[in-house]
Order: sequence, then structure tokens, then C-alpha cells
Amino acid sequence: MELTNNAKRMLKAMRADPERTWDLDAILEATDWSDQAHVAGAGGGLDEAGMVVIAEQRTNLWSLGPEGAAAAESGLLEARVWDWLSAQDEGSRGMRDLQASEAASKQEAGIAVGLLKDVGVPLVNGSFSVPGNTAAIEATIEMRTEFISSLAEEGTLAEADLDGGLLEHFHGRKGLVDSEEHVERTWRLTARGIAIDDEDLEEILHVADITPDLLQGEEWRTADFKPYDVDLPAPTPVGGRAHPMQALIERIRAIFLEMGFSEIEGDFVQSAGWNMDALFIPQDHPAREMQDTFYLDEPESIDLAAERVAQWADVHESGGGTGSTGWGSEFSEETAHKGLLRTHTTVNTIRYLADRPNEPCRVFGIGRVFRKESIDRTHLPEFHQIEGIIMEPEASLPMLVTTLKTFYEKMGYPEVRVRPAYFPYTEPSMEVEVKWRGEWLELGGSGIFRPEVTEPLGCKWPVCAWGMGLERLAMLVLGLDDIRQLYLSDLDWLSRQPIL
Ligand code: PHE
Repeated sequence: MELTNNAKRMLKAMRADPERTWDLDAILEATDWSDQAHVAGAGGGLDEAGMVVIAEQRTNLWSLGPEGAAAAESGLLEARVWDWLSAQDEGSRGMRDLQASEAASKQEAGIAVGLLKDVGVPLVNGSFSVPGNTAAIEATIEMRTEFISSLAEEGTLAEADLDGGLLEHFHGRKGLVDSEEHVERTWRLTARGIAIDDEDLEEILHVADITPDLLQGEEWRTADFKPYDVDLPAPTPVGGRAHPMQALIERIRAIFLEMGFSEIEGDFVQSAGWNMDALFIPQDHPAREMQDTFYLDEPESIDLAAERVAQWADVHESGGGTGSTGWGSEFSEETAHKGLLRTHTTVNTIRYLADRPNEPCRVFGIGRVFRKESIDRTHLPEFHQIEGIIMEPEASLPMLVTTLKTFYEKMGYPEVRVRPAYFPYTEPSMEVEVKWRGEWLELGGSGIFRPEVTEPLGCKWPVCAWGMGLERLAMLVLGLDDIRQLYLSDLDWLSRQPIL
């Protein structure tokens, strides 16, 4: 068995005088310890290792009880009453006289009768009968008084140092003396303790915590490191921290910033013109219906630059100058002015392009969008999209695919694939899928903006565009099969979420 440093120290100290029987004080002095708990601990270890034997002596220590302390102060009741009696004439030693005196209280007078009888002064016909020879009475009272005062003086005395008869007497009286058991130990080396090699008694540094201080010195080189048990259950610290959705947004933001993108924002309230017409979404597209889009009463209509509306009308009706034939149906300006809650964040990127059609750009935004969905395991009427565009001379479909792959790879999903899809505003269009637990999950749409979208704005270069669901991604990251869990404010669940 490996000895602790304290055990080694105690053993070394004792080996200086191998035959000795050591008491606590001697060990404290030899080891230079001030805490007797060290001796008990180290001694116990040495005992278990068979290197010392411990002898225990149990003694009762006596001290005064509350009544005893009062007696030490103002005299034992029998002493007080005896003094009073000695000063009284024979005719005035009655119980009544005692009660009327200051020698004892009324209550004490009753007790005094028994005590005095016990020392040889019985109550006869209501009067204390004092014998002719009082020497024995006085001797008894004197002995009792001395017993009390010696305890008062010493505080505690071992049973062996006290008169057995008197102790028994006072023990029988209530509250006069108290006792407490005291254990005294002594330690002796065994043959084994004497024979052990000095070398085995080198104290070594046991390290449980690696601290900067420790590493600054040299002692760690020879230290014994307490091994970590990584299987032990440990409490999970629960402190304030960002909501997993917010943490995820920060992570996505960091990735796009790192990839050289700038962040853009936009308003929740938009016109149908910017949210849809600018994106060449036909005005009779089903997604525009009341049951899919939240149209607003306030503002019911939103101001738009007349040239812009005319441009959209032109493109929608006949393709404008874009080479397209447009949708062929009549364009409603009223529809374009309608106020709504944005249904996708593509409205942010298209407006960004409309403001700066000639500046190459790489921008992204993470924002909330609104759709009239019934809430279920995979749908919410409010959710977030991760939107982005790249506009530059060399922008291309491979560049778009690579950008999305890079993003998902940085998020921890290296397996990404794209599949052909359809959006009114991109050509070609792709669906982006990520492999998770062996399954391909659709996370968003992407493509190259159609000429019907970019040409009227004056953009000269191709524009890669994408819009992806943030909550869908969050479900992968957090391993959820119900999207609603993200917004339940379930504190217990929240406290168990990983730090993203
Ligand atoms: N706006 C599309 C959606 O909401 C995604 C998308 C964005 C598709 C950009 C193509 C280009 O699903």
C-alpha cells in the first residue's frame, strides 16, 4: 500500500526513537504539525499498513454541571443551611424558620431536609435536630465543598483523580456534575515500521490540479499526478448563455464573414413588388395567395418608385428588353403595392442589388421570414433563412456549389449535393441537400438569377443566389425531430444543449 506524505512524515519522526510509545503531543512536536487531525489520519494509515499499533485509553472527564457551578459560587445547599442552623438557637431551627430565612429559597428548603438528614441532621417534629457532636457533619460538608471547588478550579478532572464516593454522591444529584468520555491514543512502531527502507519514505508531490503556478516551477517533474477518471459522472454547470438559435446564428455569421462576405439586413414589412414582382414571381403564383402569405392591413399599400413598377410590369407582361417573353398576363400595379410580411430574405438581396447594380459583391443575411404555415413537426409560420448572393464577372454555377459546400463543411456537414429544382427567379435552379445520419435532407434553394430579375436593375454580371432554412439546420445540429422544440423556452432542455 502506498503511504501518504503525512504517513511518511509521521513514520520518519517515530523512527528517530523506535522503541518509544508516542502520545499526541510528542507526535505533534516531532512532526511539526499543529493539527491533531493529521496525526489521526496518518496514524490510521500506518496502522492499516501494519507499521504502527495504536493503543486507546478511554477515560471519563468530569466537570461541574449548571447546579455545580452555582454551588461553587454561593455554596452547596447543605453547607448554607448548616451554617444557618449553627447560628440559630435550639428553639428557632424549625422548617418555618428556614423558609423565612435567607439561607434557602422555599423550594430549596424542601430539598434541604433530605440533604441534612443524609449528613445526620434529621427533621424531628418540624424542627432540625442537631446532635451534640457535629464534627462528622462538618467533615462531610467540608469534603463535599472541597470536591466542588476543586472541580471549579480545574475545569475538568479525570475520574481517576476524583474521590469515588463523592463522585457517586454528586452524580446522583441533579445538575451538579457532568462527564464526557475522552479517548487518548498512543502510537508505537511495529517491527515492520522499524524495518521499512528510508528510501520509501521520500515525500512526493501529489498533483490533483494542474495550475500555472505548478508549471512555473520544477517540482512537477518528479510529482505524482492523480489520474483523471474520465468516466466519473460530473455535474453539468448551468449558467446563463446564448439560446442555441442565437448561438447558431453567431456561428453562421462567423463562417460567412470568414469566407469574405458582408452582412446585410432588411425590414420584415415589404411590398409584394420587392418580395415577388422584382423576382419575376408571376402575379398569379399560388404562393402569393392569402393562405400562404401574410398580407397587411397596415400598411395595406406601400409606396414604390413609379419607374420601378413600370419596369416590373414590362418584364412580367412581355419580358421587357431581356429577351424573355414574360408571363404574358396583365400586370397589376395594385398587387405590387400590397404590404406584406416578407416571405423570404431574397427580398433583401434583390433590393441590395437594385441599390448597387454595378458593384461586385458577396453579401449574406440571416433573417426572419413569415409564411402562413400550420404548425407541425417540420413547419413554423415564422422561421429564419440564411440568404446570400455573389455577383462578380466570374460568378458561376460551380462557384455557387463550391460556396455552399464550403459553408456546410465548415458547419460540420461535409456531404452536400445539389439537385435540379425550380424557382421563378433563378435559372438554373438547385435544391441543396446535406447528408445527415445516412439521409439526404433538403435545406434550401439556390441558383443563378434570371435575366428577367437582374437585367432591369442594370446588373452586368451573373449573380449566384441562395436561401436556406436556419431551423432545418438547427434541427440537424441539435439532433431534433421536432422543429417546435427550438422555441418552447423549455429551460430544462435548454440547459442540456451543447455550446455551439
Ligand atoms: N427564396 C427561396 C426560398 O425561400 C430560396 C432561394 C433563394 C432560391 C435564392 C433560389 C435563390 O425557398
